[in-house]
Amino acid sequence: MIGGGYVGLVSGACFAEFGSEVTVVEADPARLAALDAGQIPIYEPGLEQLVTSNARAGRLAFTGDLAAAVAAAEAVFIAVGTPTRRGDGHADLTYVYAAAEQVARALSGYAVIITKSTVPVGTGRRIAEIVRDVRPDLDFDVASNPEFLREGSAIADFMHPDRVVIGAESERAREVLRRVYRPLYLIEAPIVFTGIETAELTKYAANAFLAMKVTFINEIADLCEKVGADVHDIARGIGLDGRIGRKFLHAGPGFGGSCFPKDTLALMRIAQDSGAPIRLVETVVAVNDSRKAGMATRVITACGGSVRGKTIAVLGLTFKPETDDMRDAPSVPIIARLIGDGAKVRAFDPEGMDQAVKVLPADVAYCQNALEAASGADALVLVTEWNEFRALAPERLAVAMRGRVIVDLRNVYEPGAMREAGFNYHCIGRPLTIS
Ligand SMILES: NC(=O)c1ccc[n+]([C@@H]2O[C@H](COP(=O)([O-])OP(=O)(O)OC[C@H]3O[C@@H](n4cnc5c(N)ncnc54)[C@H](O)[C@@H]3O)[C@@H](O)[C@H]2O)c1
Repeated sequence: MIGGGYVGLVSGACFAEFGSEVTVVEADPARLAALDAGQIPIYEPGLEQLVTSNARAGRLAFTGDLAAAVAAAEAVFIAVGTPTRRGDGHADLTYVYAAAEQVARALSGYAVIITKSTVPVGTGRRIAEIVRDVRPDLDFDVASNPEFLREGSAIADFMHPDRVVIGAESERAREVLRRVYRPLYLIEAPIVFTGIETAELTKYAANAFLAMKVTFINEIADLCEKVGADVHDIARGIGLDGRIGRKFLHAGPGFGGSCFPKDTLALMRIAQDSGAPIRLVETVVAVNDSRKAGMATRVITACGGSVRGKTIAVLGLTFKPETDDMRDAPSVPIIARLIGDGAKVRAFDPEGMDQAVKVLPADVAYCQNALEAASGADALVLVTEWNEFRALAPERLAVAMRGRVIVDLRNVYEPGAMREAGFNYHCIGRPLTIS
């Protein structure tokens, strides 16, 4: 498994749990040192235990020595990052191609080289060319096995997937992947075999569709605010329709995270370059960007038009709960704008603060818990819906805070209860919010 990030670590540990012998290759010395010391460098529920038990059983190891790990492998998964390339929105494939080249040099016999990273259509073919150039003698196949796990429930998603998609063109490659995924056959998880291009595009299509759903309900929420309707009830009213489905219909501050922003952008570029632009996805990208940028304005409006000299408590920094991932988190532009407009920000996140300090302005004050962040605040903004924030009693917040403004960007509180507790409460797309 090349890459020991969210996907590589989880996939490596789960394949080991399935019974394969797995070596995770990690190029970042600090990350590798942590793994060697038995520490998990990311926050993912259940991962530490899974890694420890499989490492103890001798099925899971970590190394920085790609050549040694790959030499005798039958299946080599590439799970390195594919961030947005600076300037043009395409996926940056530098890490993928570098890994492919290193893998080609190291292999000693037949292997399947599989992209688990999210990669544009054509990447598998390009990897095959790279490998053939480096090692004309080598017997190998390439395959695409996109990963659909969600951070925060990654292990359950991997162990009980809705489906596994495998793009492969030889029976030999399919057979290797069938063996790797054998326990999933036993529990009858659907395995969809496709061509390589189809598997590559399936991942982008899945993420773009989900991002579109989120953006759709966000725009419906805006309309609700204008006409006095309740987006919460509308999400239920449409979500119970089996053709629509209940998930990904939570109105909020706009999608962020390590996948949707970069994958919608990359799909948009792939489609434009292919002469088949997907205008729906282009619109999703534009609507989401302006939504995220506009969230701070909601806070400023709720504070009476200015936050200069005011203290704002921000609860939740990560892009969603149950992860420490700060990539493209809505908290980042919100906090940057509030501080830029002269506010003091007191922040708390249960798991994300170590990552947050790397991306947020230096003058954010980090607190030990939600009530400490709320202490003396003129306004409180809930950005990420960690469960512990749902349980905050309004009376305790009222005692801690100096002001009475609450801006709930995840609709976790009941508007009526908050108003009864004396708060000037604002949420997304529900009656009595700011317009
Ligand atoms: N994070 C998710 O929830 C998720 C879900 C599905 C798919 N994906 C896709 O999976 C891929 C990986 O995502 P991630 O979030 O795990 O990224 P990540 O940045 O957390 O991890 C990538 C890791 O690969 C390491 N690496 C890079 N080049 C290497 C090399 N040549 N040898 C060894 N290690 C190397 C990096 O040091 C890093 O630790 C991306 O394409 C992403 O789009 C991510």
